[in-house]
Amino acid sequence: MKVKMNLLWVLMLPLLTACNSGVFKSPQKDDPYRYVIRTEVPARPAGQKDVLGLVTAPIDTVRVGFIGLGMRGPGAVKRFTFIPGTKIVALCDLHPDRVERTQKILDNANLPRAAAYSGSEEAWKELCERDDIDLVYIATDWKRHAEMMIYAMEHGKHVACEVPSAMTLNEIWAIINTAERTQKHAMQLENCVYDFFELTTLNMAQHGVFGEVLHAEGSYIHNLHDFWESYEGDWRLQYNKAFRGDVYATHGMGPAAQVMNLHRGDKMNVLVAMDTKPVNIPEYLIKKRGMDRDSAYQFANGQHTMSMIRTENGKTIHIQHDVASPRPYSRMYQVSGTKGFANKYPISGYALEAEMVDESITPDHENLNSHSFVSAEVREALMTKYKHRIHQELEDKAKEVGGHGGMDFIMDYRLIYCLQNGLPLDMDVYDLAEWCSLAELSRISIEHNSAAVEVPDFTRGGWNKIQGYRHAFVD
Ligand SMILES: NC(=O)c1ccc[n+]([C@@H]2O[C@H](COP(=O)([O-])OP(=O)(O)OC[C@H]3O[C@@H](n4cnc5c(N)ncnc54)[C@H](O)[C@@H]3O)[C@@H](O)[C@H]2O)c1
Repeated sequence: MKVKMNLLWVLMLPLLTACNSGVFKSPQKDDPYRYVIRTEVPARPAGQKDVLGLVTAPIDTVRVGFIGLGMRGPGAVKRFTFIPGTKIVALCDLHPDRVERTQKILDNANLPRAAAYSGSEEAWKELCERDDIDLVYIATDWKRHAEMMIYAMEHGKHVACEVPSAMTLNEIWAIINTAERTQKHAMQLENCVYDFFELTTLNMAQHGVFGEVLHAEGSYIHNLHDFWESYEGDWRLQYNKAFRGDVYATHGMGPAAQVMNLHRGDKMNVLVAMDTKPVNIPEYLIKKRGMDRDSAYQFANGQHTMSMIRTENGKTIHIQHDVASPRPYSRMYQVSGTKGFANKYPISGYALEAEMVDESITPDHENLNSHSFVSAEVREALMTKYKHRIHQELEDKAKEVGGHGGMDFIMDYRLIYCLQNGLPLDMDVYDLAEWCSLAELSRISIEHNSAAVEVPDFTRGGWNKIQGYRHAFVD
């Protein structure tokens, strides 16, 4: 044993000497990042400033060009026909028949037809180059989101892009740099932050109803079995086949990030991810598409992926992704604080601490409020009391127009309202960055046996400038 120890010391001596002489950076005992995979934060290019709280000149009538008219895009065009102070100037899709189908939405709304672009992978560039468009609205597949956003901003447009707007850290930094250089808005179209339970709960959290929020959860659990054949050119399944990690994290991240005030007083520091092996989609490929077993199982994306994040202020976020298991739809959405708890799926409810328990009375273990959800009546009373101003103003119209129960309309309406009034948008480019970063960060963690990965500070030091997440209003 002693010989072995001596041998070990002899072997380690050059290593220790090298460390002491500064040949390479040795992990310091007190360095909390010594077992963390570090990520780069590229220096901000000279002459460029951050876009935190960005305000731009008010636009009376927001002129819009839409790119991508598949399953998602035409619904957005239809919603815009209900938003005053907008003009639908141009429509683009690879397929001319999809543009034509969408023109009919304008016909039905008694609006003039828009300029049409189609027939090539690059036709969207001509749309971005027009000088009568203020906003480019992108609802194509994930492959070219970043490229399209960047091109639109470089041609003087604000840009809004479907989720996820970026798939890699390089794409994210390129979008941030373009937004900072051009001082244009780059908003990710994350609709779930406007859903009724989520926005009410955010309002409750902002009023301290849950005490200090310590933990939040979110997910995208949606069995896409019946949808796989509907995506243009099979892009979605192919993306999942090629990439491991949480490739669709933003629906879970959005509401969690807002309640956690990310880059408004807190920031994500480290992420750890883990996944199961893939089974159901490879089996789908074998059964539905006749793929041979070996090729089908060359499938990167795990069936169930979990990411856990710890923040600077000592809080945690848990995000999950599963598009293959036979499970009820769930975006999870939980908020857990020192005084209370909110839960959306599968049962929406609140549990709150019984603050006023008389100390002389032995607590009644069966009936303490926070051991179970408050009654349906109390929940309704809370939701009415804390109904968000956005819902007070828009709920009826949103439910009439629709789009995932109304939240899509609220998202579009708020985007236009803020542009018209020269207000900061509800979601900025750093939100886009943080929510999309899970795709690559979770992949890196999983591919290193769930090692901890550093989450870059996409604001490059500005995460504490704004205190608390808030929506902007004119008055
Ligand atoms: N927020 C939500 O609730 C929600 C719901 C569904 C989809 N989405 C997102 O919306 C986006 C689109 O999804 P989808 O279901 O409509 O996919 P889809 O495959 O049905 O539609 C994509 C469309 O983009 C077009 N397109 C692709 N490349 C193009 C190019 N170079 N130029 C012009 N058009 C091009 C295709 O022809 C197709 O019509 C994705 O990012 C998806 O994740 C979001």
